[in-house]
Amino acid sequence: MRSHIFSLVFLLFSVAQGLNPNCETRDRGSNLQVFHVYSPCSPFRPSRSLSWEEDVLQTQAKDQARLQYLSSLVAKKSVVPIASGRQIVQSPTYIVRANIGTPPQTLLMAMDTSNDAAWIPCTGCIGCSSTVFDNAKSTTFQTLGCQAAQCNQVPNPSCDATANSCVFNMTYGGSTIAANLSQDTITLATDSVPSYTFGCLQKTTGNSVPPQGLLGLGRGPLSLLSQTQDLYQSTFSYCLPNFRSSNFSGSLRLGPVGQPLKIKYTPLLKNPRRPSLYFVNLTGILVGSKAVDIPPSAIAFNPTTGSGTIIDSGTVFTRLVEPVYASVRDEFRRRVKVTNVTSLGGFDTCYNVPIVAPTITLMFTGMNVTLPQDNLLIHSTAGSITCLAMASAPDNVNSVLNVIANMQQQNHRILFDVPNSRLGVAREPCS
Ligand SMILES: *[C@@H]1O[C@H](CO)[C@@H](O)[C@H](O)[C@H]1NC(C)=O
Ligand SMILES: *[C@@H]1O[C@H](CO)[C@@H](O)[C@H](O)[C@H]1NC(C)=O
Ligand SMILES: *[C@@H]1O[C@H](CO)[C@@H](O)[C@H](O)[C@H]1NC(C)=O
Ligand SMILES: *[C@@H]1O[C@H](CO)[C@@H](O)[C@H](O)[C@H]1NC(C)=O
Ligand SMILES: *[C@@H]1O[C@H](CO)[C@@H](O)[C@H](O)[C@H]1NC(C)=O
Ligand SMILES: *[C@@H]1O[C@H](CO)[C@@H](O)[C@H](O)[C@H]1NC(C)=O
Repeated sequence: MRSHIFSLVFLLFSVAQGLNPNCETRDRGSNLQVFHVYSPCSPFRPSRSLSWEEDVLQTQAKDQARLQYLSSLVAKKSVVPIASGRQIVQSPTYIVRANIGTPPQTLLMAMDTSNDAAWIPCTGCIGCSSTVFDNAKSTTFQTLGCQAAQCNQVPNPSCDATANSCVFNMTYGGSTIAANLSQDTITLATDSVPSYTFGCLQKTTGNSVPPQGLLGLGRGPLSLLSQTQDLYQSTFSYCLPNFRSSNFSGSLRLGPVGQPLKIKYTPLLKNPRRPSLYFVNLTGILVGSKAVDIPPSAIAFNPTTGSGTIIDSGTVFTRLVEPVYASVRDEFRRRVKVTNVTSLGGFDTCYNVPIVAPTITLMFTGMNVTLPQDNLLIHSTAGSITCLAMASAPDNVNSVLNVIANMQQQNHRILFDVPNSRLGVAREPCS
């Protein structure tokens, strides 16, 4: 009965949002559908259809901002380098449905494994999009006072003494946000989490902020996982759909129940310099069957500097630090054997004839992941250009962070098993 009411609420919401009514929710139990922002179910789909080249170039520009953001996530440091020159547009890549408050209000929140606290646009927010959470209409909403323990867990907290309200500010991509620390019930699929702590957005600048909020799935104290220890035991997995497929929905499965048993694992590492991020130990890369030359320092996990390799849901194309990328690219080109190599934006290995590409295997401690062509190549709509969908980490990021991005994770189940400190990967066609 309750789920019927939710479906009805969502249907009404869908119509109000101009969503495709066929996108009625299939969220059940602890399983949520995951949509790409370009999915027919997403209201964030660009109204004007971009050409393939424009699309690639925009996505790369967003990734650039994302990398700067990730690099800035250094403990006790909140200075974020904002790229100069062109305007940064960073938008979330994958969204899930969340119901906030009592009665529930539905928002399509960005899923972000590299962020801890959730934030939700609230009534009266300056600079937010038109779809906001009307906190005054929720009987379970409350703001947290300056003495609340959680007030020490947000970035740059300050106290509004007159309102006895804990407020915090942070930068995200090219944006800044200001929020009141608040609590309300969040319902994900059919699981309700009472008194969930999040930032109620009061003000945003720039256009990097996900329009209907962000669901933080990072490792820190305010992340969804940390707040639902009893329910989900810091365990979740997702399968990200390919945005070019006709069936756009993947899944986010929260909690230990129903997780795959047959899956390869590598240890999950915690880096005290970047405590929100999920680190793994990348030990080498094979192009075809050849292990390419990589200076060990370029991939070393270092808890003092914060360097290493992370798995991220919000970056689109894998970024490897320069010497690593150069070795992979050179061997890739050697194996493709087509001499006319062109570039497109930040991709330097593109071809305008059909190619036979080698596989690329990412070797981690205890686990090899061989990426098939679908995870390695992007093809123009017309089929005339094919690019290796990886790049070197941008120069202006002065820290050594390799990012395994979402295009390389598509159609794989990625399992975050924090209690056992391990990350699982298995092929799973979900689009
Ligand atoms: C946080 O943001 C608010 C609202 O924009 C602003 O008034 C305040 O000065 C900011 N505080 C800090 C520490 O930046
Ligand atoms: C958020 O905090 C500001 C003070 O910084 C206060 O004026 C405003 O009413 C608060 N909003 C909510 C929803 O509590
Ligand atoms: C699309 O995915 C759903 C599961 O999310 C599945 O039930 C359905 O059969 C798929 N449809 C097609 C056409 O593959
Ligand atoms: C990562 O792998 C390398 C190579 O196998 C090993 O020497 C190193 O100890 C590993 N680091 C961690 C933190 O597991
Ligand atoms: C190489 O690629 C460029 C750019 O697409 C094209 O203009 C040129 O004709 C190609 N040259 C050959 C020899 O195929
Ligand atoms: C990964 O591949 C390399 C090279 O083929 C091999 O030596 C190694 O044993 C493999 N590791 C695992 C965990 O299968």
